Amino acid sequence: MDFVGSIKVTDPYVIYMRRQGCMADEGLLQECARFYSEHFGVWAPNAKDVTPKTPIKLRVNQLKERFLLQKENSYIVTAHRSDGELIGQCFVTRFWYEKGGGYVSWITHLVVHKNHRHYGIGKRLCHIAREIDCKLFAVGLVSANPYAVRTMEKSSPFVSCDPVKIRKYASDLISVSGIPYFQNCKLRIDKNTSIIHTDFMIDHTEINAILREEPDWVLGALADGDEFFAFTFGEDMNNASKK
Ligand SMILES: CC(C)(COP(=O)(O)OP(=O)(O)OC[C@H]1O[C@@H](n2cnc3c(N)ncnc32)[C@H](O)[C@@H]1OP(=O)(O)O)[C@@H](O)C(=O)NCCC(=O)NCCS
Repeated sequence: MDFVGSIKVTDPYVIYMRRQGCMADEGLLQECARFYSEHFGVWAPNAKDVTPKTPIKLRVNQLKERFLLQKENSYIVTAHRSDGELIGQCFVTRFWYEKGGGYVSWITHLVVHKNHRHYGIGKRLCHIAREIDCKLFAVGLVSANPYAVRTMEKSSPFVSCDPVKIRKYASDLISVSGIPYFQNCKLRIDKNTSIIHTDFMIDHTEINAILREEPDWVLGALADGDEFFAFTFGEDMNNASKK
């Protein structure tokens, strides 16, 4: 296991652990699925085939299928209180993107304990998740939560999301990532919007309230089943070398 240090966020201490996906045992994955089910969010009032406004639950096999792709190229970072309790988790998958001449670090899952939010744990999780020694071209995620987008942006080594740049690479990133969940989803990207229709019916009530307060928001507004397609980019290494 790759232990990556501890920082003091508040009292008590928070300890972060990073593992390659292939090193994750069944017990940890069960714990991560339970944690997601308790802290992620609730179904929209008009969601079908589920009980509206109840917590979105995740089974361990769904966690593996959606977030633990190509286990050798996936990493799981967990945050723990000093008594060992899990208080945050981030899954990331990394793949080579030939056209950009670098790796893409795609955060497939990020959640922090409800009682430990806005203490910087999300940023630290994302930072540690991508801190793998490699030439990075892009960092990003798909999420309906503007705070998740901010967390990714603030932990990214690159400038904030720019829909014009995202539009240039989005379709390619989806196809090269091979993430099955996104392959047939419709994208809507223009200079003021970057949205993917995943049909994920999470409740947007809180999200819409956050968006009203969020300054300089450039990724647009969500309709039912939409999520933000949020990526930040470094220099296109291939173009740079041609200059
Ligand atoms: C999104 C989430 C993971 C953020 O985790 P977190 O530990 O609270 O995030 P951080 O404390 O690192 O905050 C990062 C940035 O997000 C924004 N943010 C987060 N919480 C905020 C709040 N309550 N008010 C205002 N801004 C907030 C800020 O820009 C913040 O940067 P700052 O510290 O410089 O102000 C957490 O809110 C969560 O688990 N939400 C539910 C699950 C979810 O939607 N996950 C995303 C799916 S991929």
